[in-house]
Amino acid sequence: MKVVILKNAAEVAAYGAQIFIKTIAAKPNAVLGLATGSTPLALYKELIAARKENKVSFSQVSTFNLDEYLGLAGTHPQSYRYFMNQQLFDHIDIDKARTAVPAGDAVNPLKACAAYEAAIVAKGGVDVQLLGIGRNGHIGFNEPSSSLRSRTRVKTLTRATIEDNARFFGPDEFQPHLSLTMGIGTILESKKIVLLATGESKAEAIKATVEGPLSAACPASALQLHENVIVIVDEAAASKLS
Ligand code: F6R
Repeated sequence: MKVVILKNAAEVAAYGAQIFIKTIAAKPNAVLGLATGSTPLALYKELIAARKENKVSFSQVSTFNLDEYLGLAGTHPQSYRYFMNQQLFDHIDIDKARTAVPAGDAVNPLKACAAYEAAIVAKGGVDVQLLGIGRNGHIGFNEPSSSLRSRTRVKTLTRATIEDNARFFGPDEFQPHLSLTMGIGTILESKKIVLLATGESKAEAIKATVEGPLSAACPASALQLHENVIVIVDEAAASKLS
């Protein structure tokens, strides 16, 4: 595991974006694994700027997002499909038919999960997977106690995650407590993994990920098993590393 400590969130985003830009330069039809949440927003802005300056083209790129709320269609403003369209896909030259987000409105979620796994395999696997991390060490919606070999599945969100994400929902709005998420085993099959974390609130989780024992109590610690992981953090998120 390589750990890169940078001054602030802007540097983390710029550094992370370069990895994606270089991956696409080397392989124009790269398969990217993407994440939602606050952390990747600045990286997506960097990608959009690079596209505008013609430094990268997404015209042959495919993407797979980590997760989606179960019960929200892609047209729902809090769905992760909607988020991705708004924050990235609508601003770059990507063919949306090549962008995949788990189907939150699937009639048969279990089938949808199996189909998602099959679609990743059919594309030859994920070349670079972007990850954020929860305060509780979750990656995707793989909450603490998730099996380290888990595959794409329906997962109950913990109270901590529901509380962390409540800021996106109105007081009377339905907030799902279930999700569809790539599993830890699925994530570990990506050829390269880029985990971003910024801010003091992530410092404990980063310590457990990088220095802690390999344990389902911190799902991100499973990244220690992967041979090509880069953890990019700002000084605040790195502040508890020894
Ligand atoms: C989002 C995801 C989550 C987030 C994590 C951190 O697709 O999979 O694991 O990466 O909850 O979220 P932020 O970046 O909002 O702190």
